[in-house]
Amino acid sequence: MRFLLLTLALSALFAYQQVGAEPAAVYPHSDSDENNSVGLPPVPIPANNPQTTAKIGLGDKLFHDKRLSVDGTVSCANCHDEKKAFTDGLSVSIGHHGLAGTRNAPTVLNAAFNRSQFWDGREPDLEGQSKQPLINPVEHGLTNHKQVLEIVRTDPDYLATFQTVFEVSAKKLTIDHVAQAIASFERTLVAGNSSFDRYYFKGQTDAMSDAQVRGFQLFIGRGRCVSCHTIEQDHALFTDSRFHNIGIGINRIQQDIPRLTEAFLEAKNKGGQVDVLVLTDKKSSELGRFAVTDELSQIGAFKTPTLRNVELTAPYMHDGSLKTLKEVMVHYNNGGVNNAGEPVNDFLSGGIRPLNLTEPQLDDLVAFMTALTSSKYANPTTAQAAN
Ligand code: HEC
Ligand code: HEC
Repeated sequence: MRFLLLTLALSALFAYQQVGAEPAAVYPHSDSDENNSVGLPPVPIPANNPQTTAKIGLGDKLFHDKRLSVDGTVSCANCHDEKKAFTDGLSVSIGHHGLAGTRNAPTVLNAAFNRSQFWDGREPDLEGQSKQPLINPVEHGLTNHKQVLEIVRTDPDYLATFQTVFEVSAKKLTIDHVAQAIASFERTLVAGNSSFDRYYFKGQTDAMSDAQVRGFQLFIGRGRCVSCHTIEQDHALFTDSRFHNIGIGINRIQQDIPRLTEAFLEAKNKGGQVDVLVLTDKKSSELGRFAVTDELSQIGAFKTPTLRNVELTAPYMHDGSLKTLKEVMVHYNNGGVNNAGEPVNDFLSGGIRPLNLTEPQLDDLVAFMTALTSSKYANPTTAQAAN
């Protein structure tokens, strides 16, 4: 136990050093929960984009600024709403003029730890990610990044802050500065300290209920969940950062795969952007990681999402097709199909097989999922709604 505490103290110290002079935790919330980072590794901060309070504040403003859209109604926060644990609660997101995309908005909470961004990992980091929605035709809907800069340049407050933070004049301001500020803000949106963290990393044996403890045993045992939703010795992000086909959405395109893959590669060769192609066409969206790597074996494979705060982020999966955590457990128990006995798809991950768990065991797994809610976001009303 003493060793564990020492490791935690050291990693906290390390986290502090990595973020530089300003500890991220003091912003944007005056964080009353000093244990917020229990169970998390240090936040990785790129050497070329150190955290500063002014830059984080600038990113916060950009993240919430609806002016950065074609009709003045869409900000990042529309789809990543703090009140909904940084999601939108919809199956698939809605952008400007009510246009629907094809995918479910993942939470931005703890996205700072992702080794790649988006369900198909098409962007390596938060900086790269943040530039895409601004010019996506079904999200912010701007035509190009110049328009973003024009909007920013008309606001004297923005200009003054960009000048202080990046030491650039209005003329020299680029979309990369905008992206860096947004990413810095997002690196403050981290939350650990769930019941599970207190149970597992702090040794508080009473932090989880009996059902949650049974669910945890299934999670690391017969459910084999931990093989993809990983837990390390001193922290847990519940993702292996890899891509797997677990049988979601793919059945909708099964017959169409030869034509779809060919058409997709052709569109890409003609200069089509993956971000636009997958978010504007339902069927192309289902190609998953294939859209990025062109590898047939990765058709229908999506990034393993974190399970932290999953109780608050329904509906589930890349297409938002599963409404409750119980439906998710049934899908796994059936071996990767919604209804028991349906044929599985040709590209299904070898890690997905029928689990033969009983109904009460599925409920225990759901109970365990609710042990992953950070105390900072725990809300008794939503907790009940998810059960
Ligand atoms: C119209 C809704 C919408 C808007 C506006 C929007 N997003 Fe998203 N966001 C999504 C959806 C949907 C995805 C998943 C898309 C995909 O994987 O192809 C996503 C993915 C992400 C991810 C990746 C998370 C992960 O786990 O991979 C991050 C980070 C993110 N958005 C941040 C932002 C930022 C920053 C902005 C503003 C510049 C923004 N979003 C604007 C809907 C939206
Ligand atoms: C082979 C790897 C793998 C295994 C094993 C696995 N998962 Fe997943 N999990 C994934 C991937 C990949 C997704 C996203 C799939 C998609 O959207 O197409 C996912 C999605 C989820 C989601 C939805 C999260 C969200 O934000 O939408 C939950 C909940 C979940 N898994 C829980 C579990 C549980 C519980 C188990 C064990 C019974 C388990 N997983 C086993 C890879 C795996």
